[in-house]
Amino acid sequence: MKILFADNYHSMSRKAANIISAQLILNPHSVLGLPTGSSPIGTYQQLIEWYRKGDLDFSGCHTVNLDEYVGLAARDSQSYAWFMHQNLFSQINIDPANTHLPDGTQTDAAAECQRYNDLIHKLGGVDLQFLGIGPNGHIGFNEPGSAFEKETHCVALTESTIQANARFFASSDQVPTHAYTMGMKAIMQARKILLIASGAAKAGILYDALFGPITPQVPGSIVQLHPDITVVADQDALSVILSRQPQQVSGRTPC
Ligand code: F6R
Repeated sequence: MKILFADNYHSMSRKAANIISAQLILNPHSVLGLPTGSSPIGTYQQLIEWYRKGDLDFSGCHTVNLDEYVGLAARDSQSYAWFMHQNLFSQINIDPANTHLPDGTQTDAAAECQRYNDLIHKLGGVDLQFLGIGPNGHIGFNEPGSAFEKETHCVALTESTIQANARFFASSDQVPTHAYTMGMKAIMQARKILLIASGAAKAGILYDALFGPITPQVPGSIVQLHPDITVVADQDALSVILSRQPQQVSGRTPC
């Protein structure tokens, strides 16, 4: 596991975008696993900027997103499909047919999860899985207590995740209660993982995920077992790790 230091959110985003760019340059046909949320927005903005400068080409790659709310259509402004369209896909030269998310309008959960698993396998698996981490340690929507061995499945969101995501909705009672999410098994099958974290609110959980016991109670802790994981986090998110395991953190140079 490599843990890279970033001064702040902007620097974290640039370092993460550099890693994604390297992946795309080395393999233009990469399958990228992507998250939504506040953490990756700066990375997506940086990738867009480099694309506009002519340094990046997304025409050959595929993306598979981690998750989608059950009940929301892609054109719903709160859906993750819409988030991805607005924050990345509409601003780069990716073929929309190569962008994949679970379909939140599908009511047959088993069939939709099977379709998504089959799709990921058909694409040859994920080359680089980009991840954020929730305040309770969730990855995708794999909430504490989720079995590690699951592929895509339907989950009931915990109250803490509903409250954390309420900031994107008019009120917390509008946050959907269920989501389709890639499971920890599918995430761990990615060839590489890139995990980002920013802000003091993530400091405790980042330490627990990377240095605590590997337990379903902290879903993100499973990444400790991945053979090729890079973590990029800013100073605030690294504060607990820097106080207890400073020798594990590298990359204190600008990027
Ligand atoms: C969303 C996802 C979630 C987020 C997590 C952190 O697709 O996978 O696990 O990464 O909730 O969200 P932010 O970045 O908003 O703190």
